[in-house]
Amino acid sequence: MTRSNDHSLRLFLAAIAALCVGACSSDKPEPPAESPTAADIQEEAADATEAAQDAAEQAVEDAEAVIDETLEAISEAVDPADGDAPANDGGPCELSVEVGDSIAFSVNALAAPSNCSEVTVTLTHTGKLPAAAMGHNWVLLPTDAIEAISMAGMNAGAEANYLPDDERIVAATKIIGGGESASVTFSLDALDADTSYTYVCTFPGHWSVMRGSFTVTG
Ligand code: CO
Repeated sequence: MTRSNDHSLRLFLAAIAALCVGACSSDKPEPPAESPTAADIQEEAADATEAAQDAAEQAVEDAEAVIDETLEAISEAVDPADGDAPANDGGPCELSVEVGDSIAFSVNALAAPSNCSEVTVTLTHTGKLPAAAMGHNWVLLPTDAIEAISMAGMNAGAEANYLPDDERIVAATKIIGGGESASVTFSLDALDADTSYTYVCTFPGHWSVMRGSFTVTG
């Protein structure tokens, strides 16, 4: 190494030192832009905390939903009558009929054993239309009284479930719409062995086609 080179090297090192003093000076009010500031770090930490809180809240909501579903399932298992399924598994004295958004019962004949102390008929409307547009009821009456009672029911109006006050009516549910169900319980003692009985829907216009036979067996 020559003297000249040695001198140049000293100058070079001095220049670097000067640059460093300039660049690294603590006189500058703010650190270099590329370094994360304390505010940046705080903001990131806050974001992470918020995300963790959101995740925890979601987990709690999910757990609560599972608990609700489980309690509902237990409730239905303990008391099937509260469930959505028609109560058609309660033995021969419990009868089920379905209706929908058309003028028809799901069955055109029902029979109950004569040894039933009481008979329960459950009507379930599986359609979507409201009672005002496609209402149905289940009304048990003597076959020869169908027309008179249905016409009188139409005059009685929706508030009376299209039913007149007539003692010939053996049993009747209220008028229901889509998604609803209704039950009626009655004693077979109300039936006369020598009389023919029919069930109808007394919603205006339905009774002429919406009907089925009701018999007592055994
Ligand atoms: Co009807």
